Amino acid sequence: NSRRTYTIAVIPGDGIGIEVMPPALRCLEAAATRFGFTLIFRHFEWASCTYYLKYGKMLPDDWKSLLKTCDAIFFGAVGDPARVPDHVSLWGSLLRFRREFDQFVNIRPCRLMPGVSSPLTGRAPGSIDFFTVRENTEGEYSSIGGKIFEGTGRETVIQNTVFTRTGVDRVVRYAFELARSRPAKKLTSATKSNGISITMPYWDERVAEIAKEYPDVEVEKYHIDILCAHFVQRPHTFDVVVGSNLFGDILSDLGPACTGTIGIAPSANLNPTSKRTDEDWMPSLFEPVHGSAPDIAGKGIANPVGMIWAGQMMLEHFGEKDAAKALLTAIENVLGGAKAKVQQGGEDVLTPDMGGKGSTEVLGRAIESVLSSA
Ligand code: NAI
Ligand code: MG
Repeated sequence: NSRRTYTIAVIPGDGIGIEVMPPALRCLEAAATRFGFTLIFRHFEWASCTYYLKYGKMLPDDWKSLLKTCDAIFFGAVGDPARVPDHVSLWGSLLRFRREFDQFVNIRPCRLMPGVSSPLTGRAPGSIDFFTVRENTEGEYSSIGGKIFEGTGRETVIQNTVFTRTGVDRVVRYAFELARSRPAKKLTSATKSNGISITMPYWDERVAEIAKEYPDVEVEKYHIDILCAHFVQRPHTFDVVVGSNLFGDILSDLGPACTGTIGIAPSANLNPTSKRTDEDWMPSLFEPVHGSAPDIAGKGIANPVGMIWAGQMMLEHFGEKDAAKALLTAIENVLGGAKAKVQQGGEDVLTPDMGGKGSTEVLGRAIESVLSSA
């Protein structure tokens, strides 16, 4: 049997993670049916605060071997700050997945969708369409450093940035590959070599070195401060933007923020080099950017698009390009057609965060049915 089959670890987590997961799974099923592949969902209730309150830990002891039986991890959101401190829930689950599976690339699309109003005026749908690529394992977020002379006048704190050649090269190379795969073939590197005078010139040096392998990709670099300004002032000029852990963190929030509501933004944590056949296979993780949103949890009004779009990225990762393209088009068509539909007396499918009166269920069904009926 040569039918393409993918096993997915389904971890809804907490709050709206539990609500946006079912519509996303239905959309993935619809894509599988239409494009002729099989999805096997393995449902896990752990990596949630409910599990923690019951068992005193976020994960079962064999979590790693369980996840290694899967081709990818599809993750909702974790967090229930009223009952479990965030550092316990987040560090005990999601951050362990990212670290222990060495998911060294964090990638987010920044795409202005039809029907979604951007905080930037005068931008047409599709005119903003780029990816941020963040180094996800080292850099500024290192635990090397310390505190000395605490509580005295000489109190001193130091925290060191760690750039390894392996760590820098692999994320930069991933970004070049992504740029090469896109029509614009352009890479922007975030730096600050005028102020951070040792590590950032090193980053620039590695980008310049690796650029030699990609003569077909146009390369530019900007200091992080002016780059942030450019994201707002001319977002249409970017294609793939790569940054260190800290700069990438900032850009990967700013980019999607320029294209509208947090409820639609997806994200992937990738280990692009690990292979399923490796003995030490390390799966990648796909999730919405948003958290568990306790303020709206249980009301059935969470926007499911972030979760569905994360599923779209997962299909792309599997190499199911046609299915991924169709799912993105279905999302665009539903969002883009929503206002006209209401004017014609039809049902409002947009959730309240997008100015509508729709529900998680209704918006999810609308995308699923456009995808199925094409
Ligand atoms: P949040 O993203 O959960 O919510 C921020 C605001 O955006 C809230 O007003 C919420 O109602 C709104 N929002 C978020 N997603 C939405 C959606 N799909 N549709 C409509 N509105 C949406 O961030 P917050 O409030 O800072 O954190 C809440 C909990 O989530 C905390 O425990 C935090 O640690 C956790 N968290 C988990 C993340 C993850 O699992 N990757 C990421 C961010 C936060
Ligand atoms: Mg962030």
